[in-house]
Amino acid sequence: MRKEVGPISNLIPESVIEEVKARNELVSVVEQYVHLDRKSGSNYFGLCPFHGEKTPSFSVSPPKQIYYCFGCHKGGDVIHFIMDIEKCSYPQAIRLLAERAGVAIPEPDDEAWRQRHEKQKALQNICLEAARQFYRNLMAAAGQPARQYIQRRALASSVCRKFGLGYALEEWNGLLRHLNQLGFTDEELLLQSGLFRRGKSGGLYDLFRHRLMFPIFDAMGRIIAFGGRVLDDSQPKYINSPETPLYTKGRHLYALNVAKSSKKDQMVIVEGYMDAIALHQAGVDNAVASLGTALTENQAQLLRKYTEQVVIAYDADAAGQAATLRSLETLSQRGLKVTVLQVPDAKDPDEFIRLHGPERFHALIDKSLPLLDYKLAVARRNSISQGAVDPLAYQDEACQILAREENAIVRELYATRLAEEIHASTESVLQEIERRLGASSGESARPAARTHLDRPGTDQELPESTSRESLSREELYVLTLLAAEPSLAEEARITAEDFSPGPVRTLAESALPRARDGTLDLSVLIELCADLTVRDYPLHDLVARVSMRLDELFGQNLRQGAAEQLWRLRKQRLRQQLETLQRQYQEQTDEAGRSRLKQDILALTRRLTELKQKPDWQS
Ligand code: GTP
Ligand code: MN
Repeated sequence: MRKEVGPISNLIPESVIEEVKARNELVSVVEQYVHLDRKSGSNYFGLCPFHGEKTPSFSVSPPKQIYYCFGCHKGGDVIHFIMDIEKCSYPQAIRLLAERAGVAIPEPDDEAWRQRHEKQKALQNICLEAARQFYRNLMAAAGQPARQYIQRRALASSVCRKFGLGYALEEWNGLLRHLNQLGFTDEELLLQSGLFRRGKSGGLYDLFRHRLMFPIFDAMGRIIAFGGRVLDDSQPKYINSPETPLYTKGRHLYALNVAKSSKKDQMVIVEGYMDAIALHQAGVDNAVASLGTALTENQAQLLRKYTEQVVIAYDADAAGQAATLRSLETLSQRGLKVTVLQVPDAKDPDEFIRLHGPERFHALIDKSLPLLDYKLAVARRNSISQGAVDPLAYQDEACQILAREENAIVRELYATRLAEEIHASTESVLQEIERRLGASSGESARPAARTHLDRPGTDQELPESTSRESLSREELYVLTLLAAEPSLAEEARITAEDFSPGPVRTLAESALPRARDGTLDLSVLIELCADLTVRDYPLHDLVARVSMRLDELFGQNLRQGAAEQLWRLRKQRLRQQLETLQRQYQEQTDEAGRSRLKQDILALTRRLTELKQKPDWQS
């Protein structure tokens, strides 16, 4: 940890610094930037805002009032935290915290800084007063057309208040006169607020006229800019503030000031003001808007401070879908997990909710597609010709996409699905992928032949279900998914017979009762593996590796994933049994025995036919 004592800090009396620290409780300050969710002992944990990471190593100790990141080793007290996160100097951090807590401090001698600070404060005040005036306009008689518009868009008054919606009068200088009256007369300053333009005659006039006004807040809840929408179909539909000393485009997210307090562990990102507001009204209190098309690097970084899981819900049109693909890359590069929500039968989330209601939208969130599924869905759509999917074009693009996936387990999982979809064997799909891997090895340099579970230093693959001690991928998945969602044991009627005889069934036999009485979790499952091995390979190791990747493999829909794996597993086991019976049938000479076997074969075949349909897991 650093010891920060600059000569400048000496200008602020030690007693003031102590008071600032005392009145800014670290957890509450950190929580304005970082989502702290895990608690371990007296410490809180969250994703470090200072370096990209996927598992939380950033800790805050309330009793000690210090933070520390085990990943990047940044740490310190509340003042250091503000310096690190706001990228400001020690005295600036103290001032920021002093302002937050209402502690008065003597003015600094740093003249340049003081001037900039003064200007920012003045611009903030102008924005705040403007927003107040827009709100008053909305409530006044002149606001009638805007109120009607709000009603037509079915916005509740509570949500309008929460987002500070207002109305800019149908006048050339309504706002200007109001601000002048409040004493804001410095024309240069007023121009810098972005709310005015200078006319040919030299005077200022209002930028926003006869528009529904959306204040844009920064994450700390300060108004920094505005968007204004026409009340009819005229153009331009929206006008937004230009860049100002307070507002840089692509650096903020609309509604983040509200969404950051959501208890949900993800953020939903939409394109427009109206979408964000409609979602909040529908109970999706973690929605933010990028206000533009694709998400910028800066916005991704900002989001990363609050969550590690993002759902993209852009417009259904081509522009929205193109922006989705670009944003996917930007977000995943920042280490965020991304899924894509596709809005069917509507042009955007707002329209969807108006047509189908909030419940159906919540269901769309739950069904949002992991990155690869989305890319494959796009490939499928792209390969439609004359109303039907062209399997050749589809498999070509799909294999190309899968070849770019670095994780071999993930690749195989998707290859299996793709094979089913295009009625090919998994082996041939994998072959196609491998062929492309070889072809592109120069360009996207990565090891082509990874081991299935990335066992370090060996080429050994996950044992296939051929030998006496067999274990299929599906069995492994079902077991770990069961540990993550123990209620599945009952709901999907999982039995030990679903698993291969031998070590895996032994594990299932001890895990299933624990799942039923609700005491199974991943660590218990790993413990239950004890010394079990499959072909000399410790089972606990396989289980641990797969558990670490459950999210990656199955996204948010663990239950659907489990249902699907179980379905595959059962099909596979029935096929094995069928083969055995058929062999026995051929070897059987006794007539009675043959007819009994025939019955069994018929019964099994029937069950297999029943299993043809993929399950649609609804709980
Ligand atoms: P509604 O028609 O009110 O539902 O708009 P929307 O929220 O669905 O917005 P849309 O999908 O048309 O556009 C998404 C975002 O792009 C908007 O929220 C604005 O931030 C921005 N935008 C849209 N139209 C314009 C425009 O004409 N000019 C500018 N500068 N920005 C626009
Ligand atoms: Mn819209």
